[in-house]
Amino acid sequence: MASNILTRLTRKDLFRNQGYIDGAWVDAASGKRFDVYDPATLDNITTVPEMDAEDTVKAIESASAAFKTYKQTTARQRARWLRKWSDLCLEHTADLALVLCHENGKTLAEANGEVAYAASFLEWFAGEAERTYGEVVPSSNSKQRILTFKQPLGVAACMAPWNFPIAMITRKCGAALAAGCTTVWKPAGETPLSCLALAVLAQEAGFPKGCINIVTTLDLVAQVGKALCSHKAVRKLSFTGSTRVGKLLANQCSANLTKLSLELGGNSPFIVFDDANLDKAIEAFTMAKFRNSGQTCVTANRVFVQSRVYDQFAQALVKKVKTLKVGAGTEPDVFIGPLTHERAVAKAMSHVEDAKAQGGQVILGGAPLTGYNGYFIQPTVIRDMSTKMLMTREETFAPVVGLYRFETVDEVISLANDCDVGLGSFICTESTSRMWRVAEALDVGMVGVNVGVLSACESPFGGVKESGYGREGGRHGIDEYLIVKSMLINVSD
Ligand code: SIN
Repeated sequence: MASNILTRLTRKDLFRNQGYIDGAWVDAASGKRFDVYDPATLDNITTVPEMDAEDTVKAIESASAAFKTYKQTTARQRARWLRKWSDLCLEHTADLALVLCHENGKTLAEANGEVAYAASFLEWFAGEAERTYGEVVPSSNSKQRILTFKQPLGVAACMAPWNFPIAMITRKCGAALAAGCTTVWKPAGETPLSCLALAVLAQEAGFPKGCINIVTTLDLVAQVGKALCSHKAVRKLSFTGSTRVGKLLANQCSANLTKLSLELGGNSPFIVFDDANLDKAIEAFTMAKFRNSGQTCVTANRVFVQSRVYDQFAQALVKKVKTLKVGAGTEPDVFIGPLTHERAVAKAMSHVEDAKAQGGQVILGGAPLTGYNGYFIQPTVIRDMSTKMLMTREETFAPVVGLYRFETVDEVISLANDCDVGLGSFICTESTSRMWRVAEALDVGMVGVNVGVLSACESPFGGVKESGYGREGGRHGIDEYLIVKSMLINVSD
């Protein structure tokens, strides 16, 4: 399979299957490797090193040594490297997208979109690098002057998920490198190849040796995570993934009080009010739910539709979903690809079965898709959902829709907030006052109004409650990697 991808890459050197430490492509000290699969075909793409704590410490030490000089570089220089890296990503979009498409299963159109999204963070933080202003603070003491300035924290560990393998890396390391931190990346075991390709381009953009290090692992992820959390040189850890793992990392980081950003699970409400433009709502919903095969942290998971338009919305949705082609990401016009894991199919099916057992009516799909080797399921729509069902509490992370009915604004706010997590949310309404009222009342970090995608490098991304803390992207993203130092000056002579 590797040769299949290789023959189609314009830049063959972007295909790497080794870790990257201290500017060199390396194997695991143990010599162990693991397989990377294409979830659409279950073909083995290649193997990469199964790195462990020993390899991780080497990566941290490389980043720590590089930090001594990297922190002295000017923000203008770091901005130039970031901008060049962004340009190189865009120039090699087709190659990066091909790798993403095969290791993750996303469609080529979405993979192209992810490359642009990933590059946008590098460009954005190139701009932010030079905007990390300090301030002059009026002192209460006439003999003193006070000012603040910002400095990089140190080594930053960037742990990325498999659903957006490169965009989640650049959202973290773009900010870190702009701030003057050096980095150790831990890509998801399922999707290391696009990150390795990204590092080739970073090297070409001019980043000094040791600024970027990559530890690849699948089975030893707990060991690698612990090494990142417990090493004193790591002063920042940014993780995107499950709430369960986020809590574990937070515990481990407590020993050194390592600063954390956590972008964890969501269970986004998608609320359709009866004054909404239903055509626009269906378009927004299609993106919110089916983008990336339903595998985004902000995917619409609980779909609340106001009673008066419930039947109409359900019918229009089924009609729309029937037009969405399912297949391997490389096939033309496919909108929904495979799920990335076998266990994701099992989870989605368990949600469907649970809903059916409790009175939910499957009006489209409802089963795995036959005729493929990979992890495909039929896009599914279930109506008459109730809050006792599994889908109310758990992220389905698949192209499965459950429609809940509601009557009043107060009722839907209370339903939407009855949840341990609070990442994204979506509202469809034509009423400005309703928009404000609901947006302010929802316990979430992000609200989309008549849109289905919340992603934009300039908009802060993050959640509340058990969706974690910290903000990525936007003007706040770089602050996560900086300390504010204050200086009091005696001017009394
Ligand atoms: C995520 O799923 O965590 C990221 C989605 C996005 O940035 O669009």
